[in-house]
Amino acid sequence: MIELAPSILSADFARLAEQIRAAVAGGGSVIHVDIMDGHFVPNITVGPPVVRSLRKVTEVPLDCHLMIENPDQYIPEFADAGADWISVHQEACVHLDRTLNLIKEHDCRAGVVINPATPVDSLSEVLDIVDYILVMSVNPGFGAQKFIPNSLHKMRRLAEWRAKRGLSYRIEVDGGISPETVGDVVRAGAEILVAGNAVFGHGDPKTNAEKLLKAGLEATLQKV
Ligand code: DX5
Ligand code: ZN
Repeated sequence: MIELAPSILSADFARLAEQIRAAVAGGGSVIHVDIMDGHFVPNITVGPPVVRSLRKVTEVPLDCHLMIENPDQYIPEFADAGADWISVHQEACVHLDRTLNLIKEHDCRAGVVINPATPVDSLSEVLDIVDYILVMSVNPGFGAQKFIPNSLHKMRRLAEWRAKRGLSYRIEVDGGISPETVGDVVRAGAEILVAGNAVFGHGDPKTNAEKLLKAGLEATLQKV
């Protein structure tokens, strides 16, 4: 099932509730929250207090993408603030198996993320633990960057492995998703489509979300 996960990184932070409502009205079914610490990535965004406030203004799942060092230290706080899904970077976790289990112990869906330069094979030992895998199609840190096509083969590989091994993780993609690139990622196997600039960058978030989701659903039909 294709889902659109609008990323609030490109939203107006003074009007988050209103902008989220518009994106959800346009078909967004998960809200993607980018958490950056200025260390793992060269940018700083928000932390648990903002997640706690978002929890009060929307019913849809909050997908917290942790681009932070030492995520274990903060996972309990994000879960307590109302995160439903929590993903951590493979590159930030020395004990990835432990970190993923920690997320699950807090009753959240556990995801792992890989940067553009990280091989998809690095996930082979956690495929049966994770609920979802997030393939970065830009180098994390900023919105509105250009899609990196080398990410496509990773989505294909993840879809193949899942079928072969009878697993059930979902495949998410993040970075440079627009009406122009959405077809390629969906045909490669992506099901959860994160989009920041394409939804909130300009114009009406509701119309933008509708357009993107429509393009994604059309690509699903082409897959069959
Ligand atoms: C980038 C973030 C993304 C970002 C995507 O580090 O992880 O979620 O919001 O933005 P767009 O869709 O503008 O590439
Ligand atoms: Zn993200």
